[in-house]
Amino acid sequence: MAQRETWTTRAGFVLAAVGSAVGLGNIWQFPFKTAENGGAAFVLVYLLAAVLIGLPTILGEFAIGRRAKLNAVEAFDRLDHPAWTVVGGLGLFTGLWILSYYSVVGGWVIRYTIGSLTGGYFGGTAAYFGAVSAGWEAIAFHALFMALTAGIVAFGIEDGIEKATKLMVPSVVLMLVGLAVYAFTLDGSGPAYSYYLSPDMDYLANNLGSVIPFAVSQAFFSLSLGMGAMITYASYLSDDDSLPADGGLVVGLNTLIGVLAGLVVIPLLFVQFSQIPETAAGGGPGALFVSVAQVFGGLGITGRILGALFFFVVLIAALSSAISLLEVVTAYCVDRYEWNRMATAFGFGGVLFLLGTLSAWDTAWLGWFDTLAYSVLLPASVLLGVIFVGWVYGPEAVEEMEKGADGAGQYATLWIWWLRTVVFVGVLVTLYLGVTSIYASPGLPGL
Ligand code: PHE
Repeated sequence: MAQRETWTTRAGFVLAAVGSAVGLGNIWQFPFKTAENGGAAFVLVYLLAAVLIGLPTILGEFAIGRRAKLNAVEAFDRLDHPAWTVVGGLGLFTGLWILSYYSVVGGWVIRYTIGSLTGGYFGGTAAYFGAVSAGWEAIAFHALFMALTAGIVAFGIEDGIEKATKLMVPSVVLMLVGLAVYAFTLDGSGPAYSYYLSPDMDYLANNLGSVIPFAVSQAFFSLSLGMGAMITYASYLSDDDSLPADGGLVVGLNTLIGVLAGLVVIPLLFVQFSQIPETAAGGGPGALFVSVAQVFGGLGITGRILGALFFFVVLIAALSSAISLLEVVTAYCVDRYEWNRMATAFGFGGVLFLLGTLSAWDTAWLGWFDTLAYSVLLPASVLLGVIFVGWVYGPEAVEEMEKGADGAGQYATLWIWWLRTVVFVGVLVTLYLGVTSIYASPGLPGL
């Protein structure tokens, strides 16, 4: 077998992993899920989930990937646990499922990048969002986003992705800080900060059953967990890299960017509606595209430039995440069946485009796909992975975690026990609450 590649620098890996993690999950989803789930109470549980559950889980995926040095499905074979290949398979499926609608939202972002330049949405963002978020136009831009994703994966991502992510992370932070400061200066944003930053403990106590599963699944989605992406990326890591240090950085940066996005979106929602709106057009999935877009719309020519820049940065963030989703299945088919890389990337891209047309046609479908991913697929996939790392692969995982970790290595045993107890119970509860909430909610859209 040919010598397998490794990342040339530690920064290369960390940035690629951050590139995968930071995406629509942080900038589009996190703020509106926060607004839908009680504000600061949700943020609090999310922060706890990211550190107490997300971090140990990402370390587990790193340990699998680096030791196996193989794609996320065959990795389990290579570690001599072929039966657990099913974990890789479920992760792969979950990633494809998510990519089908992720690409639809990516298409909206392309539409808005162009719409900023032309001032297309400046006349009324809610009506514009209604017109472009579903139907033929949404399908066309969904196709474009998927084609871009498949194109980058087909032609190899090394140069492209490393360079793009190096620029992306600083520019995302810069744009968000700028917008957050601007939002702060606007009349009416004041109440947003207590809503966003000071948790309402009564709300939390009364809604624990829905806040917990949403926050934990949001952490998984945002950290790209349970989909083989982090296993795949870590498979290119060298043995002298410190997994705990890298994991800490990825979780820290990802969380920071999510919280920052909230500091933009939530105040803007308050400015526009004097409170969090219940209507789907102004809040919910439309928050970024209606309320944030509205700010650009009010700034004339400056707004066109700023808006185009902003949505372009979001587009890069979304693409660097989508690529890592498509790369999981592509790496597998290329490694295992020696399929042609380009044919594989475009073949799966095409199938997922077709699946995603449902979500592009009607946002109710998008919501349904998202709900199923959040409530069942993600927690189920992560749970199996945690069981694998905790019990089946435990001693080797500890050994792997100690490699190159210097001082942090001594905590590896503690980490395994943490996975076996706190993380296991946390994910199990999330899955249980997610599945029961699915039973309680209405069925397929339109059926
Ligand atoms: N983490 C990405 C986001 O927040 C989405 C993603 C999930 C990417 C899984 C890759 C794998 O947008």
